[in-house]
Amino acid sequence: MTPQLDSDGRLRHLLTLDGLPRETLCRLIDRAGQIRDAALGRTPRRQALDGTTVCTLFFEPSTRTRSSFHIAAQRLGADVLNFDASTSSTRKGETARDTLRNLEAMGVRGFIVRHAEDGAVAALAAEAGEGTALVNAGDGRSAHPTQGLLDMMTIRQAKGADFSRLKILMVGDVKHSRVARSDLHALRTLGAGVIRVCGPQSLLPDDGTLSGCEVGQDFDAMLEGVDVVMMLRLQRERMEEGLIASLEDYHRAYGLTTARLARAAKDAVVLHPGPINRGVEITDEVADGPQSLVLRQVSNGVAIRMAVLEMLLG
Ligand code: CP
Repeated sequence: MTPQLDSDGRLRHLLTLDGLPRETLCRLIDRAGQIRDAALGRTPRRQALDGTTVCTLFFEPSTRTRSSFHIAAQRLGADVLNFDASTSSTRKGETARDTLRNLEAMGVRGFIVRHAEDGAVAALAAEAGEGTALVNAGDGRSAHPTQGLLDMMTIRQAKGADFSRLKILMVGDVKHSRVARSDLHALRTLGAGVIRVCGPQSLLPDDGTLSGCEVGQDFDAMLEGVDVVMMLRLQRERMEEGLIASLEDYHRAYGLTTARLARAAKDAVVLHPGPINRGVEITDEVADGPQSLVLRQVSNGVAIRMAVLEMLLG
């Protein structure tokens, strides 16, 4: 039993995809598909969270996750409080725990939390009162569960629900990536046929994260025949010095170009969680090209986050 499930197996918080039952994962993706029109603002605002206040509590920067949670909560009828750490009393030393408890005392019921430390969101969830739900919007290198869900939704839309037929390649800085960990948990739960992982040895974890994956350093060889290419951002803010020689060298060995992409299956699709380091992990031509699903991932993010908020708070 993971701390995010209650004694009846219902989702109380969303902290990680590690151990999340396949049924729950599929229910969230199915629901996101059903409400995609509402997520994109094509139908009137829903009322499921009328009278509920949700707070985006981010201690690290974000564009996609924070904005899409904000939009998702609004499109469910919730009131949204954007907590700005840079102008808050955390600058005077107030802890994240006290911040959460004070906002709870104002009637906030849902917290979307991003934090630089591994395990910080789970630690806060353990302090939360009855009826309060937390969503991990990214903690350190550990987990980014809604990114994992939206990536699975995007792959499913493009390739169908049978993941056992798919060869999936993940490329780049796996070591520092919470997205990679959440994606790997979800891909295993959904029974992906082959999971290949490729990157410089210095950016691949040796802690069991890659168990069951085909691991290699030769990007051209690993690309052969894959159906899905999942590019990762170089997490320079979490990296010690010297892990890569230079950005130019990295691009030469691991940058996705049109010529390289031709090695993958003809109808292969390309994902990147953003923000993109253009010209480093991926060229403009590929990022903005016909095989790129990067903006589809972003749109799906609103629907997935609506489905998560609805399940936790609705
Ligand atoms: N993919 C993602 O988490 O992007 P942000 O850091 O902009 O939220």
